[in-house]
Amino acid sequence: MSETAFPDDFLWGGALAANQAEGAWQEGGKGLATVDMLPHGPHRMPIKLGLERRTALRDDEFYPSHQAIDFYHRYKEDIALMAEMGFRVFRTSIAWSRIYPNGDESAPNEAGIAFYRDLFQECRRHNIEPLVTLCHFDVPMHLVTEYGSWRSREMVTFFTRYARTCFEAFNGLVKYWLTFNEINILLHSPFSGAGLAFEEGENPEQVKYQAAHHELLASALATRIAHEVNPENQVGCMLAGGNFYPYSCKPEDVWAALEKDRENLFFIDVQARGAYPAWTARMFKEKGICVQMEPGDAEILRHTVDFVSFSYYASRCASADMNDNNSSAANVVKSLKNPWIQQSQWGWGIDPLGLRITMNMMYDRYQKPLFLVENGLGARDEPDAQGEINDDYRIGYLREHIRAMAQAIEDGIPLMGYTTWGCIDLVSASTGEMSKRYGLVYVDRDDQGGGTLARRRKKSFWWYKQVIASNGRDL
Ligand code: BG6
Repeated sequence: MSETAFPDDFLWGGALAANQAEGAWQEGGKGLATVDMLPHGPHRMPIKLGLERRTALRDDEFYPSHQAIDFYHRYKEDIALMAEMGFRVFRTSIAWSRIYPNGDESAPNEAGIAFYRDLFQECRRHNIEPLVTLCHFDVPMHLVTEYGSWRSREMVTFFTRYARTCFEAFNGLVKYWLTFNEINILLHSPFSGAGLAFEEGENPEQVKYQAAHHELLASALATRIAHEVNPENQVGCMLAGGNFYPYSCKPEDVWAALEKDRENLFFIDVQARGAYPAWTARMFKEKGICVQMEPGDAEILRHTVDFVSFSYYASRCASADMNDNNSSAANVVKSLKNPWIQQSQWGWGIDPLGLRITMNMMYDRYQKPLFLVENGLGARDEPDAQGEINDDYRIGYLREHIRAMAQAIEDGIPLMGYTTWGCIDLVSASTGEMSKRYGLVYVDRDDQGGGTLARRRKKSFWWYKQVIASNGRDL
């Protein structure tokens, strides 16, 4: 057998998020969450961006999260499929509104705790380590309407109460935690990222960075609490990753790329290094931002994470004039179209070397173990006459990215694990479609909510099983 770069204890697995998979949006005492307000169709994006305010559901719209893939009722079947592939880790999130339906209660909803306890026990029965995100693009709607979501400092109290509840309730069952999924998405998609919709006359930049400060405090406090509850707990931050390339070697383009990277890395700089980076003072001045901080805040932020996790789908491109070329928006982060790489059916650039570049930059910057917790190809799958899904394009994408990961490990980077995104087909976060499929397991469901919800193994299922069994040798 050939050599493998992957360590014996490498955590191979897959990832999903409560709001894109569970459904059961009103069961078990669950409250309404931001994501439940996002319809399929033309209003989705303006709402996600915080430009169109929504506080009530409409009868004439379809809301994909309400039933999603019904993971809430089918998780045993789904976890068994993950176990069949040999998963060592399974990443999911807890829906905050299942534990605290309104978000500001003083006692949690026991039915919500019971659901996740069963789910994590099921993982353990299969020797699968859960990796759990506390907040993956869902904030209880009551916190949005009553407090303005993360613009309010009270959110820090609500979130840390919720985090403590989870650490205590699942102590011994869950060891690996992430505080906020893709925390930098707050800047790009403020409602779905952080429950923010803007009022007339507000400076959106001021609102976003104030909210960011509150999330960073909440994340640092949650990290401290996780360690207090159990010193074995390991807590990570989570970046929507992908380096910016300068569109040309014109110095202004190089500077633009550096600034764009900083914009996203700002969050991880604070979470992994424990303080605001020096350049933020100038940036705040230029944007007319004044972040309200309290005297103890700097001390709180010193509670840094144990590891740095990230998603990687595509690299990005920037120039001094972001409008002077074709733009694309992989993962809602605005970017110029890179003529040197191929694009997915949804226009996301495919760039495995970009993963190695991103990992090297992140390790050089943070010197903390990395964890790639999302990566995959959103593509249309057409079952053949026998109903088989021969998704060689997905296998090709994953293979090249796993190779890039192996090279990064050879570069000396400690990588804890890899959880491919949407190990089972689920609702797309950006578009609300089911037809943008990432899974190794097919789910019979369409964009309008039709279909039997039956599960079927794709060709990539068998391929990934063999990758895990060979610890990354057999690609
Ligand atoms: C990440 C998110 O942004 O990318 C996931 O954390 C999301 O929630 C994934 O699903 C893929 O994006 P999309 O829009 O294709 O679902």
